[in-house]
This record gives sequence, C-alpha cells and structure tokens, in this order.
Amino acid sequence: MKKKFIAVLLTVLSVSLILAGCSQKTTEIKIGGVGPVSGEAATFGQSTKEGYELAVEEWNKAGGLLGNQIKLIFQDDKGDPTEAATVWTKLISQDKVVAIVGTVMSKCSLAGAPISQANKVPMISPTSTNPKVTEVGEFIFRACFIDPFQGTVGAKFAYENLNARTAACIFDVGNDYTKGLSEFFRDKFIELGGEIVAFEAHATGATDFKAQLTKIIAAKPDVIYISDYYNDVALIAKQARELGYTGPLVGGDGWDSPDLVKIGGKAVENGYFTNHFSKDDPSPQVQEFVRKYEAKFGKTPDALAALAYDAMVIMLDAIKRAGSTDPEKIRAALAATNIQVVSGMISFDKNRNPIKSAVIIAIKDGQQVYQTTVNP
Ligand code: PHE
Repeated sequence: MKKKFIAVLLTVLSVSLILAGCSQKTTEIKIGGVGPVSGEAATFGQSTKEGYELAVEEWNKAGGLLGNQIKLIFQDDKGDPTEAATVWTKLISQDKVVAIVGTVMSKCSLAGAPISQANKVPMISPTSTNPKVTEVGEFIFRACFIDPFQGTVGAKFAYENLNARTAACIFDVGNDYTKGLSEFFRDKFIELGGEIVAFEAHATGATDFKAQLTKIIAAKPDVIYISDYYNDVALIAKQARELGYTGPLVGGDGWDSPDLVKIGGKAVENGYFTNHFSKDDPSPQVQEFVRKYEAKFGKTPDALAALAYDAMVIMLDAIKRAGSTDPEKIRAALAATNIQVVSGMISFDKNRNPIKSAVIIAIKDGQQVYQTTVNP
C-alpha cells in the first residue's frame, strides 16, 4: 500500500515536473513589429516584415531570448499615420509587447512614437529618417541615418559629381519625410554655391504632376531632386520625360523598391539615389545577410529588409544585455548599444540616432548599380 502510494506520488510529481518544464519552454517574449504591407508603398512593408522574421527565426533557433522564445506580432500600418496609432495602441494594450520595432515611414513613426513614449514601451524604427522621430523622447531610437545627412549627400553628389549648378525640388507636402528631405537638399545645395530654381510641392495622393513639372522644366534646372516614395517617383519621372526633360534625377531612400523600375521603366534611367545599403557591398556582414535572405525568401534583399533585420537584432541584443524585460532597463541597454550589424557599426548619439554612412545607387539598364559609399 505504502509502495503504491509512493509510486502514485512519484508519477504525479514527474508529470507536474514535465508540465512545468513544458510551460517554461513555451514562455514567450512578445515583440511588436510594424510596417506598411499595404497602401502607397507596400513593397517597403513586405521587405521589412521579412527582415524582422529572419532575425527572430535565427534568435529562436539559437535558444531565444533570456530563456524564452521570441514571438513576433506583426502589424500593417498601411502607410497611414492614423492606422499606425491604432496598431501601436493594440500592440501595447492588448498584446502587451515588451518593445516595438517599427515603423518604416517617418509620418507613421511620428504617430506611433508618442504612444510608445507615454507607455514607456521602447521603440526602434528601422528606416524612419526624419529627425523629429527620435526627438519624441528617450524611449525612441532608430537604426538609420537622418535626413540632414541624406540631403547633404544628395546635394554634394549633384553639385560635385553631376556638376549641377542649378536644381529644382519636388516633394509631397503632406509627408514629413519628403518635405524635410527636399528642404535639407535645398539648404545644402545653396550652401555649396548652387541655385534652387524651383521648389514645388504636390498633394499627397496626387497622380498628375504636370503643373509642377512644367514650372520646373521652364526654369531649366541641371538636376531635379525628387524626394518622394517610389510610386510617386516613377510617375514624376515619366511625366518629366514626357514634358521633354532629359537631365539627371536625384532622390533619397524612398526610391528603393523593385517597383521603381517596373513602373518607371526608361524614365528612371539617369536616376541616382542615396540609400542605407547595397547588396553589392563586399563587406562580409552584407554578403552573409544577402546569402541568408536569398536562401529563405528566394530574392535579393533591399535596404528595408536589411535595416529591419538590423533593428530587430539591435532590440533583441539590448533586451539580452538588460537581462530583463523591464522597460527602463531595455531603454538603458539600447542607449549603450555597440554592435556590428549588417548595415554597419551601431552606437547611438545623445539623440538616439546612429552615425552611419550612405551609399549612392544609380539606375542603369533597369538595375540598381552601386556607385560609392559616403561617410559622415
Ligand atoms: N526614410 C523613409 C521615411 O522616413 C522611409 C524609407 C526608408 C523608405 C528606406 C525606403 C527605404 O519615410
């Protein structure tokens, strides 16, 4: 009788130990991931989502985070600030994520950041380059350079490499990123000794840019700077060529999409843009990433995929060093970041922005061709 009792007791004990073991293993740390997989720039979100997934998959295979598996909860902000605010609130209040990696467009990160800041949920944007994003507060970081630098690189390239002495800008007046970037380009181009002969705004969602382009072309610029996202860039380029402009087009990271050439075709030839990453960079980090991404997704990564991967790794590394999911500890660990990621060496300045180099890419025969790397 006693023996039987002990046997039963042992069985109960071992079953509960196994159960406890299982539930330990299935404990998760939830991380929010945000990007626009629909809307005006859907290729941005697709690449971004893939970058997040690759990083999380690798970390989980290598044992997870603080003894837990990482659960990525991805949300589509649709490239719309109102939608971004909604998904930020959902991730924080309903899903109870410990941190948010996102989002792509500055205008959407600017809608999410105050919600992260107010709730003390650390956030890192992979690709939002407008300076105002990290100014929201000490819980907000980014994995990319900012637009004053990007605009400077574009202006110097136009002035020194393309020998332009006059330039015109066209931008989306309802978008913090495109408006800001045109302004930074303009200021630097003037500082270098150039002249801005036209500075033309268009409305968000516009598809006919002929009025602005007619004015621009009449002013005979040596170069047109287009600080829009790829869909608008392709349309503006087509209409500029139709109106007879044959000169160079220059722009920023918003050009980076396989759809730029698909939509723009020949019109985007003689185009150049500043970016965060080139798949042709021979650095071992870049080549290793390109290989892993191609193996998983069957296509070459763009800058959005690389920076999404980097931003996720920066956040996971910070949580690991924090040794805890306490928001204040994660924030402090993020601020102390010092790691090599795909797009470079990351450490943050006092405004939580990393100092990074830019690459210049040319569109030649429908391909993105790496030109040069520009250091800050
Ligand atoms: N920098 C853009 C923004 O702030 C987003 C972007 C980054 C788009 C990289 C394409 C590539 O809105």
